Amino acid sequence: MDKGLTITIDGLAHFLPMEEVFAAASKSALQLDKLRNGEGEGNDFLGWLTLPSDIAEELEKIEACASRLREISDTTVVIGIGGSYLGSKAVIEALTDTFAYSGDDRAHHVIYAGHNLCSKYMGDLLRLLDNRNYTIIVISKSGTTTEPAVAFRLLKSHLESKEGASEASSRIVAITDRKRGALKRMAEKQGYETFEIPDNVGGRYSVLTPVGLLPVAVAGFDIRELVRGSADMERMTIANHDPCSNPALLYAAARNLMYNEGKHVEILVNYSPRLHHISEWWKQLYGESEGKDGKGIFPASVDNTTDLHSLGQYIQEGERILFETVLSISSDGREVEIPYSKDDEDGLNFLAGKTLSFINKSAEMGTREAHIEGGVPNITIELPRLNEYYLGQLLYFFEIACGISGYILGVNPFDQPGVEAYKQKMYRLLGKQ
Ligand code: PA5
Repeated sequence: MDKGLTITIDGLAHFLPMEEVFAAASKSALQLDKLRNGEGEGNDFLGWLTLPSDIAEELEKIEACASRLREISDTTVVIGIGGSYLGSKAVIEALTDTFAYSGDDRAHHVIYAGHNLCSKYMGDLLRLLDNRNYTIIVISKSGTTTEPAVAFRLLKSHLESKEGASEASSRIVAITDRKRGALKRMAEKQGYETFEIPDNVGGRYSVLTPVGLLPVAVAGFDIRELVRGSADMERMTIANHDPCSNPALLYAAARNLMYNEGKHVEILVNYSPRLHHISEWWKQLYGESEGKDGKGIFPASVDNTTDLHSLGQYIQEGERILFETVLSISSDGREVEIPYSKDDEDGLNFLAGKTLSFINKSAEMGTREAHIEGGVPNITIELPRLNEYYLGQLLYFFEIACGISGYILGVNPFDQPGVEAYKQKMYRLLGKQ
């Protein structure tokens, strides 16, 4: 197995003795066992723990469906919200060429909808789709969530008027519950190709089901490599009590120690815009899993170096309630070298011959040092590069660490009772019976 994902916690040494962190990590093996043996709260939602191996037999069907959608369309609209869109969006954004959709040789375009109620967003999308040859993947575990349901009604009607009802049905794929919900009933009635979300996998842990894998495959990426990476991380973590070789134990324990030290906000930091939605996915995973019973670390994120020129000031000198987890990528992929200039008008010749990655890495290292000195503890998670395999490792790592961390905190990491509150108020205002 490749070295893969690694974790460094020496950026906590100014704040806590390292022995304390390792002792807490060893102790958190008890929570790992509770998770693995299904002895903790929410134990009817642990299907994701073994998904990397369980999903293997479904990969062929997912790949066949993805090929069909790619053959019959140039654009796929993925409808979903929360756990039903963030995982695939994060993976696709991390792997896609930044300007892929602006050139003539456009890649298959995956567009998201149903994750907001913005009228302008939907209006603009419908206008774009007037001239696109498109298919739809509609994803909702409950099959009743308002945002995706409204988006699906609008887009289904648009597609039907463009292609006719029967052709539209062959261009729609539904991913939903095995037996319940409006979407399941519609899919059966209209004959949509359908994938099921296992009963024992909650939305935010569903990236390795068809929920995440089908959109990633449609975007043209290798879901077998993604699953292989997550399977290797499963093997590395699921029964490993040694914090020196189980990064999930170390991360879960370290962040809870920080929380107990009054560091109530964790900032996930990246130095590549391609990781923006990895942070969005992580925020949902940790925020929805841990923020309950009046407890929980608030998960925030920054995209550097961009945000060093905005939130950087607060991080350096604001309230000392923060710690950082930096998602560091060893190699950026495409190297760009700074050219030499004869007259050196901009005074940048000290950088001539150096690569942009080197400058970015120096910004990362310098910021780490400055923030630690300023009172912001640092955890660093490093991936060799951004590809399907390492992203698979990262996703499973964050999921299993989240389960352990929730149990250390003393909450049920697999429910989300607070999400219902706004829905009830909104339904009343909308006059829903
Ligand atoms: O993690 C969760 O369970 C939630 O974020 C859901 O994914 C989100 O609310 C969407 O739910 P559904 O897939 O039922 O439409």
